[in-house]
Amino acid sequence: MKINVKTSMSSYDIIIENGSFENLHKYTEDITKGRKIFAVTDDNVDSFYGERLSDMFSYCEFKKVVLPHGETTKSSEYLNKLYSELAEFKMSRSDIIIAFGGGVIGDLTGFAAATFLRGIKFIQVPTTLLSQVDSSVGGKVAIDLPEGKNLVGSFYPPCRVIIDPLLLNTLPKRVFNDGMAEVIKYGAIRDDKLFEMLLGDIDTCIEEVIHTCVNIKKQIVENDEFDTGERMILNFGHTFGHVVEKLCNYTTYTHGEGVAIGMLRITQKSEAMGITEKGTADRLRLALEKYDLVFDDYTFDANKAAQVLLLDKKSSKDTINYIMLSKIGETVIKEIPKTDTFLTED
Ligand SMILES: NC(=O)c1ccc[n+]([C@@H]2O[C@H](COP(=O)([O-])OP(=O)(O)OC[C@H]3O[C@@H](n4cnc5c(N)ncnc54)[C@H](O)[C@@H]3O)[C@@H](O)[C@H]2O)c1
Ligand SMILES: [Zn+2]
Repeated sequence: MKINVKTSMSSYDIIIENGSFENLHKYTEDITKGRKIFAVTDDNVDSFYGERLSDMFSYCEFKKVVLPHGETTKSSEYLNKLYSELAEFKMSRSDIIIAFGGGVIGDLTGFAAATFLRGIKFIQVPTTLLSQVDSSVGGKVAIDLPEGKNLVGSFYPPCRVIIDPLLLNTLPKRVFNDGMAEVIKYGAIRDDKLFEMLLGDIDTCIEEVIHTCVNIKKQIVENDEFDTGERMILNFGHTFGHVVEKLCNYTTYTHGEGVAIGMLRITQKSEAMGITEKGTADRLRLALEKYDLVFDDYTFDANKAAQVLLLDKKSSKDTINYIMLSKIGETVIKEIPKTDTFLTED
């Protein structure tokens, strides 16, 4: 399955196919032929697939850099390490970088690719569900600062994305479910049929599920490449999700778990406000439950939560655009003053 994403500068193909990693060299031959290849991965991914990756490209000048796994790798420290390794390998602007890992490796490597020599082509080979349906599509690349996540970044689309759903077989369950929160989000905001599929046996149709999600993200990012409008609907569940993540200092709950808590909370609220069709929150809960994403025992300090909302660095406005569902598959955007506490009230 192939999806082409158009950007203001060019376009790139996303290939979604079981087993495509095994044939990565073939799927990228037209871009990589005669070029040096610089691959970046993390130690977990390397332990499963690193050897195969190196073998595949043994016919060309190839270098693999293995970084520690985890969000802390998305830092200026490891960015500098990549710059040094790139310089040492004497990469030129016509060579190719491969990001082989989850969103951490994708975001960091993409930012290095965007900036080293003012831009080197890069290929995304996402290995987590989250990176396959979300971070590898849309061209956002970034690193974190001690002051906050994703504070330094750019829009720098890859030249190709190769998605192999079989790579997900080695993912720990919690990491898989983390990505499922974003998959459920796509169904909830855009596609009732996808949503229904998630309630069934997903193992048999994961390729189709990923394809559907990527297609939804493609349509949204093509309409709003630089995130100034429509792309905001991808933030469904994320406003409160960020509160959950911040209040636990990015430890107790993962991003997907925060988003899951956020999606259910805002839907319960909007249903009570009469904005959302009755029964929607229950249906959402059913899907979330299937992937261990319901946290009824979650408690928080309402004052601290309100503070997080007020301090949202990305927005200088006095209001927050809340994405709500009118029903599964359809959204409405409500602009609500930051001081309105509807989301953080019992
Ligand atoms: N650029 C974007 O548009 C965008 C969108 C959403 C999220 N993100 C970013 O993505 C990052 C999170 O990405 P993530 O959830 O993929 O996390 P991650 O990259 O940290 O991967 C999660 C864990 O899974 C392991 N792993 C990866 N692939 C594996 C495999 N196939 N088998 C076994 N283990 C594997 C990793 O080593 C890691 O421990 C965050 O930094 C977030 O900001 C970016
Ligand atoms: Zn998200």
